[in-house]
Amino acid sequence: MSIESQPRSCYVGEVRPSHIGQIIVLKGWVHRRRDHGGVIFVDLRDRTGLCQIVFDPQALSANAFDAAGDLRDEYVLAVRGLVRRRPEGTENPNLATGEVEVLVHEFEVLNTCKTLPFKLDEYTTVNEDVRLRYRFLDLRRPEMQRNFFLRHKLFQVVRQYFSENGFLEFTTPILTKSTPEGARDFLVPSRLNPGCFYALPQSPQLFKQLLMVAGYDRYFQLAPCFRDEDLRANRQPEFWQIDVEMSFVSPEDIYSVMEGMIARVWRECIGVEVSTPFPRLAYERAMLEYGSDKPDLRFDLKITELTDFFDGTDIKVFAAALAGRGRIRGLRVPGGAAFSRKQLDDYTAFVGQYGAKGLAWFKVLENELQSPLTKFFTPELVEAFKQRMQAQVGDIIFVVAASEKVVCDALGQLRLKIAADLDLIPTGKYSFAWITDFPLFEWSEREKVFTPSHHPFTAPAKDDVPLLDEYNADPAHWRDAHPDDHPLKRVRALAYDLAINGEEAGGGSIRIHRRDIQNKVFRAIGIDEATAERKFGFLLDALSYGAPPHGGIAFGVERMLMLLLGERSIREVIPFPKTQSGADLMVDAPSPVDEEQLRELHIRVELPQE
Ligand code: AMO
Repeated sequence: MSIESQPRSCYVGEVRPSHIGQIIVLKGWVHRRRDHGGVIFVDLRDRTGLCQIVFDPQALSANAFDAAGDLRDEYVLAVRGLVRRRPEGTENPNLATGEVEVLVHEFEVLNTCKTLPFKLDEYTTVNEDVRLRYRFLDLRRPEMQRNFFLRHKLFQVVRQYFSENGFLEFTTPILTKSTPEGARDFLVPSRLNPGCFYALPQSPQLFKQLLMVAGYDRYFQLAPCFRDEDLRANRQPEFWQIDVEMSFVSPEDIYSVMEGMIARVWRECIGVEVSTPFPRLAYERAMLEYGSDKPDLRFDLKITELTDFFDGTDIKVFAAALAGRGRIRGLRVPGGAAFSRKQLDDYTAFVGQYGAKGLAWFKVLENELQSPLTKFFTPELVEAFKQRMQAQVGDIIFVVAASEKVVCDALGQLRLKIAADLDLIPTGKYSFAWITDFPLFEWSEREKVFTPSHHPFTAPAKDDVPLLDEYNADPAHWRDAHPDDHPLKRVRALAYDLAINGEEAGGGSIRIHRRDIQNKVFRAIGIDEATAERKFGFLLDALSYGAPPHGGIAFGVERMLMLLLGERSIREVIPFPKTQSGADLMVDAPSPVDEEQLRELHIRVELPQE
């Protein structure tokens, strides 16, 4: 019987000393080949690892040994041979199979392999486009296998956890209608309905709410989501969510279910014990102290409010910011008094990218506060400043004065950069925090209106509903008001995110379940009844048929995998990802289609004139 048709005795990486003396059959790829004085050694590989196999002219016919000489990288082999202990001194403690080897009696080449476009163990120097073009080769690498074994594990753990906790797994449509998650939709033309389009779901948001209206109480789904947005290191046009919805719950109920899931995932996927409950941090405080709504809490470095401190100051740039209703805030960096002029210039240029026109600095030395601005400080002011900043000798204090957004962005990013530069971020540590009390609306500087910070079905905090009424009673009154004075600015949402190590891992909210409140929100953001009806009529309708109070959350599967695996690029945790420009280089998508296909869809393509 040919070896090809014989079953494997075990996987390649499973050969152990207990097999010594047995004749076994293995199948796998030639990972590496070495000729040693007439004997050929091959590391055979499959998804479980490597095993050394030996082609010895003493144990093979002359023809067979010659054929072994023709083996090349990534040939596919079936071998039959004797498991034996490796000669003393040649064991490899780094391999699970390192104590043994297989002396080949017979082998068959099941397939050959062309010259590889890159060596599988030298991929790091290869252009990523080449890896993506030959993804099926790239995926053979042990590093990639580790990632996809873990991806599988994550799915299993999540399914089991929710199932054990009374959640039902659903699937929801992929060909559907626009869901308002704030990105552009991917559209799919309908042949049967000329001129009409489906949208791919940005998330299952509306369907999971409808399942609550339908009384299913606890829903979860490992759900594919599609968003046409600018891509980044942690963003793909197609990604997956761990999507959850529950009825009759408060945010605390949701936090507790999700903390249980995270603890289980961290324990079972990477063996790390996570302590719960996670800290809760109100949005406003997160923005003030960390300049971010997804603060990295693995290290200290907090930002301090100085706006009130510099009230009435003679320092021109500070006074100008105050006059424009901006903020002044400071970041104290222990040990920073040692920064060189060049470093300070670099940090100034760095905050410039976030819109800060300058970066004031104060070095706290033994007998002085050294700064180009000290001449504006009386000795009392120096003392008060040091006290406010809790400054110690050896610190540097950076101060930015600008609009609130610029101050948060500039100091928040500076905080991260300095932590990286000074090596303050411990590896192997995870920081979790619920960010709560998000604002329901955000001001769009471009459109000069308030728009929903999340989606328009997010419930306002009960106490803040009167602010909606105040605005809706007379929108014209607020037309020229400064956005900071606007009642809508103060409406808090029952919305929350989970930040892990400075990443937004997930987010959700309690939803509006009553039609009257939904109308108030639509009214506030200028969506008239007809538009609301056209876009989300089915949901509004459902709210009028006994919708229970409900809420939920979704976690980004890939974001979580990146955190668990310490990967910096989302592409490393997606088997077949897209490039920065949204292309799949392997299958060559997107690509033009036949005229005939377009005709059937009643579509004519007009390319921009270039
Ligand atoms: P949201 O839009 O915040 O909420 O998305 C939830 C989580 O999904 C991940 N994520 C992404 N991951 C990779 N690539 C992307 N392009 C991308 N966009 C988002 C993030 C994010 O925290 N329906 C609501 C959830 C709810 O309210 O229940 C939603 O989709 O980790």
